[in-house]
Amino acid sequence: MIAATLLVTPVSHGSPRIINGAEAADGQFPFVVSILSAPALASAGAFQAQFCAGVLTTPTTVVTAAHCLVDPKTGEKFAPDEILLGFGPQLTLGRLQIERVSSITIHPKYELRTARHDIAVINLANPRPDIPVITPLRPSDQPTYVQTDAPAQVVGWGNTSPTGSAFPERMRVGNVAIFPDASCGQGASHTIRGVRFNGFRPGEAFPEEMICAAGVTTDNRVIDSCQGDSGGPLIVGEGVAARLVGLVSWGDTCATNYPGVYTRVSAMVDFLQSVGALVSLAPTVPPSVEATPLNDGVRVTFTPANDGSIVTTFAATATDPQTGAVVQCFATPRKDGLPAVCDIDGVINGRNYEVQAIAANDLGNSPPTPAVSVQPFPIPDPGRILSFQARADRSALVRVSRANGHGSAITTRDVACQPIAGGVIRRAIIREGQAVLRNLKRGWHACTVSAITDVGRGSSIPQDFRIR
Ligand code: ARG
Repeated sequence: MIAATLLVTPVSHGSPRIINGAEAADGQFPFVVSILSAPALASAGAFQAQFCAGVLTTPTTVVTAAHCLVDPKTGEKFAPDEILLGFGPQLTLGRLQIERVSSITIHPKYELRTARHDIAVINLANPRPDIPVITPLRPSDQPTYVQTDAPAQVVGWGNTSPTGSAFPERMRVGNVAIFPDASCGQGASHTIRGVRFNGFRPGEAFPEEMICAAGVTTDNRVIDSCQGDSGGPLIVGEGVAARLVGLVSWGDTCATNYPGVYTRVSAMVDFLQSVGALVSLAPTVPPSVEATPLNDGVRVTFTPANDGSIVTTFAATATDPQTGAVVQCFATPRKDGLPAVCDIDGVINGRNYEVQAIAANDLGNSPPTPAVSVQPFPIPDPGRILSFQARADRSALVRVSRANGHGSAITTRDVACQPIAGGVIRRAIIREGQAVLRNLKRGWHACTVSAITDVGRGSSIPQDFRIR
């Protein structure tokens, strides 16, 4: 029988950190936080106060192990004001950004004795949208990420000594490999670079909810997480492909011939979703869209739905109901929150087109918007801004390309600039291909040219210019 060490020792460090790992570089794991005991921080500093790690998965949520936050004797969880979160790799007060906690949610099925469902979510009192997050692994991505011998990284400030106690002040990372499920509940042994590990047997580990992992250095030393690393991440993949695959949960002491055991994050997505720690990854809600006629074209304006997904592309199609012919255009969301715009060309004036749009990212598409019908007609083509010369007095000389009235005389042409940060829109009439805008604010502006005929008004897609 294995004596599982499932211990959190807030304040005093009594046993092992990541064993046979290396120091993390600045900015390497911005989403990893140290979990600090608030009273210990006040009396003894960050190094003494650190007792677990966690990971930022949304601007307001940190995911960690349940056993970090539940008193093993009473079964009671910490109160939000008993802990603090430290952003930064160095457990030194001046170098950590400390955040307060507003609430703590333990997985409803967390079981102290078996460490099943060893996961909890901490809500930040103040959101940190400036810090990159890591996305929890979804069940559908599990086959590509959780494979036997797949390389993974474990991060934390836990004990670095397999036999004694040596805690680091600096975040460390260990390179480990994912074990087969058979080693994580069916007793199968597993060998890495000639080093043979025992497997946990039925009733010891539960592979549906746990992942086993360990590594071996080139000189045959075992790489493992250890006491103090709990709640920290097991990461597979790099850059935008990096996913939170596991959370440090327990082991048979540290860096022995048993692997470390991690909470299987992809099995916990319902819980994570229920507390808002995992946002829907592909867009689930279509963008709101406006479709307006152009001369032989349709302009589509997209505003993303606030479904928590990160949209990388908008797309719109116009279908000719008579011929079934489809034409499309694509737009990239703007970082400043202004609507994105694209023009569908190659449609014919006077026909009715059905326009639909989606929001997409590399994980999938939103459902399409309901179809709206648009009939192109010869509204003027206003031309576009060719140059924008900002002057020291916060005015700007704007030169524009030729306009086309599409058979009607242009009565007015103007240029308008909207400060992106908000404020008054400035306009000026265009004469002989140029206009002077005055009283502009400093900063970026979205500027459009418009032309008016008796058929209607046509405006260019916004172009961005800066007043320094
Ligand atoms: N329960 C430990 C903690 O509180 C983590 C143990 C991990 N052990 C291992 N051999 N990987 O920090």
